[in-house]
Amino acid sequence: MTAEYKVHGDVAVITLNNPPVNGLGYDTRIGITNGLALANADAAVKSIVLTGAGKAFSGGADIREFGTPKALQDPNLLSVILAVENSAKPVVAAVHSVAMGGGLELALGCHYRIAAPGCNVALPEVKLGLIPGAGGTQRLPRVLGVEAALNMIVSGEPVKSELLASLPGQKLFDKMAASPGSLAEEALALAREVAAKHADGSALPLVRNLPCKHPLGDAYFQFARNMVGGMSKNFPAPLKCVDAVEAATTKKFDEGMQFEREIFINLMWTPECRALRHIFQAERAASKIPDVPSDTPVRDIKAVAVIGAGTMGGGITMNFLNAGIPVKMLEMKQEALDRGIATIRKNYEAQVKKGKLKADKYEQRMALLSTTLDYNDLKDADMVIEAVFEDMGVKEAVFKKLDEVMKPGAILASNTSTLDVNKIASFTKRPEDVVGLHFFSPANVMKLLEVVRGAKTAKDVMATVMGVGKKIKKTAVVSGVCDGFIGNRMIEQYGRQGGFLLDEGCTPAQVDKAIEKFGFAMGPFRMGDLAGNDIGWAIRKRRYQEKPGMKYSKTADLLCEKGRFGQKTGAGWYDYVAGKRDAIPNQEVVEMIEAHRKSLGITPRKISDEEIVQRLVFSLVNEAAHILEEGIASKASDIDMVYIMGYGFPVYRGGPMLYADQVGLFNVVQAMNRFAKNPLDDAKFWQPAPLLARLVAEGKTFN
Ligand code: NAI
Repeated sequence: MTAEYKVHGDVAVITLNNPPVNGLGYDTRIGITNGLALANADAAVKSIVLTGAGKAFSGGADIREFGTPKALQDPNLLSVILAVENSAKPVVAAVHSVAMGGGLELALGCHYRIAAPGCNVALPEVKLGLIPGAGGTQRLPRVLGVEAALNMIVSGEPVKSELLASLPGQKLFDKMAASPGSLAEEALALAREVAAKHADGSALPLVRNLPCKHPLGDAYFQFARNMVGGMSKNFPAPLKCVDAVEAATTKKFDEGMQFEREIFINLMWTPECRALRHIFQAERAASKIPDVPSDTPVRDIKAVAVIGAGTMGGGITMNFLNAGIPVKMLEMKQEALDRGIATIRKNYEAQVKKGKLKADKYEQRMALLSTTLDYNDLKDADMVIEAVFEDMGVKEAVFKKLDEVMKPGAILASNTSTLDVNKIASFTKRPEDVVGLHFFSPANVMKLLEVVRGAKTAKDVMATVMGVGKKIKKTAVVSGVCDGFIGNRMIEQYGRQGGFLLDEGCTPAQVDKAIEKFGFAMGPFRMGDLAGNDIGWAIRKRRYQEKPGMKYSKTADLLCEKGRFGQKTGAGWYDYVAGKRDAIPNQEVVEMIEAHRKSLGITPRKISDEEIVQRLVFSLVNEAAHILEEGIASKASDIDMVYIMGYGFPVYRGGPMLYADQVGLFNVVQAMNRFAKNPLDDAKFWQPAPLLARLVAEGKTFN
C-alpha cells in the first residue's frame, strides 16, 4: 500500500508510504481519498492526521508517472486537496521532513499543520519550467505573506520549517513539534485538541478563506517583475510565478486557482519546460547503466590517491577534499607538489575571500590532504586517479608502477582525455579494476564527469565510480572507449564546421556571436582561446597522419603558427588584456583569414546566423547519432547531459539531442542534405548517420 490507514483511538492516521519520497502517484492519491472516506464514515474517529513514512512527508508529484496518463488520472492532486478541504472531520498535516511541490500543496489543503524542525519546505516547480499547479501560488501567499511566498515560488529553493515558523504572522504551521521524534505524538495531541475545538460544529479553517494582500500592491509587483525578468531571461516560468501570485492578491480564490491552472498548462507545452523536465530526468537516467543493476555491490572508497599535481590533478583533488575524503598526491618532484598545493590553497582562499567557504572549513579540507614522492605510500588508497602528462609512455610507466603497489581491489583510474583506456588497462595485470574518469577543466568547478568504461572494466567498478561521482557532486555520464569519448569527439566536428565557416566568409566574432545568441555560453573561437588553441593543433596534427583524407580548414593552424594560443598567450582568435577575459577582435587575424581565403580562390559570401547555428549544432547531432549507434553512449539523454554540463549548451534547449527532436529530425536531415551540396563543406560528413536516417524513416525521435 502506498498510503496506510490506521486508527489510534479517536484519531485516524493516513501515512503516505511510497518510497523514496512519497511521490503523489495515482495509488497514493487513491490511498488518501480512501482514508478520508473511511475516517469520515467511522463514528469513533473524531479527527485525522495526514503524515508521511520514511524520508519525506511528500516530495510532490511522482516522477515515475511524468508524461504518463496516470499522472492526470482522477483523483488528480487538485481533487485530493479538495477532498481534504471538504472532510467534515479536521485534517492535520504532520510534516516530519521534506514537504515539496505537490506535497506542500497537499499540506496547505489541510485544516491544520504541525511540523518538526529541520524540514525542507519548497515549491520547486519553477526549476522544471513550471509554476505550482495545485494551488501553491494561491495558498502559500495566504499563509506566509506575498513576499516570502513569492521568494520561495520564484526561486524554488527549500526553506527550513523552523525559519518559516519564525516569520511574523505566518499561518503555515499552527504548531512546531519539539523534535522529529516527538512529532507523531504531538500531531495526535493536536488532532484531539482541534477535534474538541470543533465538536460544536464550528467551521474548519481553510487557507483559501484567508485574506491575501500586499500593502504596496502594483508597485511591489512592478518591482518584482523588474527583478525577476532581469534574472530569468530565457525562461518564461519565473515571471509567470509573479503573475500567479499577483492573482492571489487581486482575484477571488477560485478564479486565482483557474488562472494558476491556465498558466501551468500553457507552460507545460513550452520548449523551455520540456527542456528542463528532460534534463531533470536525464540527470537521474545518467546514473543508471543498462547492464549494471542498481543493487550491484560497490567497493568502499575511503581514501584516494592522485598522481600528478598539475592543472587537473589539483582540481580533482579538491573535489575529494570537499567531500571529506582524504587524498594523497604524488608527483615526481617536491617543487611540483609545492606548486600544486599552492594552487589548491589559492583556489580555496579565493572562496574564503568571497565568503563562499568558512575559514575553519578550509583548514579542515587542507588537513585531509597529504603528499608524497614515493609510490609505496599509496598502498592504502582505495582508488587512485592518474592525471600526468598526456603521453602513452608516461601513462604506461605510471600504471605499471600502480599495478605493483596498489592493494588488491583498488580502483585504478585515468583522467586521460584522448588516449585509449583499454591500452592503459593492458599495462596492468588487473584491467577489470581500470576505468577512465574524465574530468573537465577547471575540475573543481565543472559538473561533468565522463566515466570511461573499458572493455574489461568490472561492473562493480562502474557502480562504485558512479557512486563516487555523486558523492563529489558531479554529473557522471558513461562513455565507451573511442577517440575523444562522447564530448570531445562531437566537439571536433563542431570545431571543423567553425573552420569551414571562416573559410567561406565569416569572422570568428560573427560565428561566436551567432551561436552565443542561440544560447551557448561561449562560441567555438572564444572557447578555443580559453582551452588553448595548441591543444586542438596537436590533435589535428595527429589526425593529418591518421586520417589523411579528412577535410580541415587550415586557419587554426596558421593562427597557432603565429603563437596565438589563446588567453594564456594573451592572443588567440582575439586579443586579451592581462587579468581580463574580454575577447577583443583582432584585425590581423581577420586579415590572415582573408588572405587564406584568397589563396584558396574562395569568394566570400554572407552567411546567415541561422546557417551558422544549424551547421554547428547539427554537426554535433550527426556525430552523436554515430556515437549512439556504436553504443559509445547508451542513451540520447546521456549525450544531452554531457553537452549541458560540460560544454555550455543552452539549458533551456535541453541539449543537442532534445533540440534536434524539437526541430524535427526530418528537418535536421533536410538541412544536412543542403550542407552536403556546399563544395566548401564536407559532403561525406553530412551523410546522415544510419541511426538518424532510420529514425526519420520511422518518424521517431532520439529521446
Ligand atoms: P599538467 O601538465 O598541468 O599536469 C601534469 C602533472 O603531472 C605535472 O605536474 C607533472 O609534473 C606530473 N607528472 C608527469 N609525469 C608524472 C609521473 N610520471 N609521475 C607523477 N607525476 C607526473 O597537465 P593537465 O592539464 O593537468 O593534464 C593531466 C591529464 O589530464 C592529461 O592526461 C590530460 O589529457 C588530462 N586532461 C586535461 C584537461 C585539461 O583541460 N587540461 C581536461 C581533461 C583531462
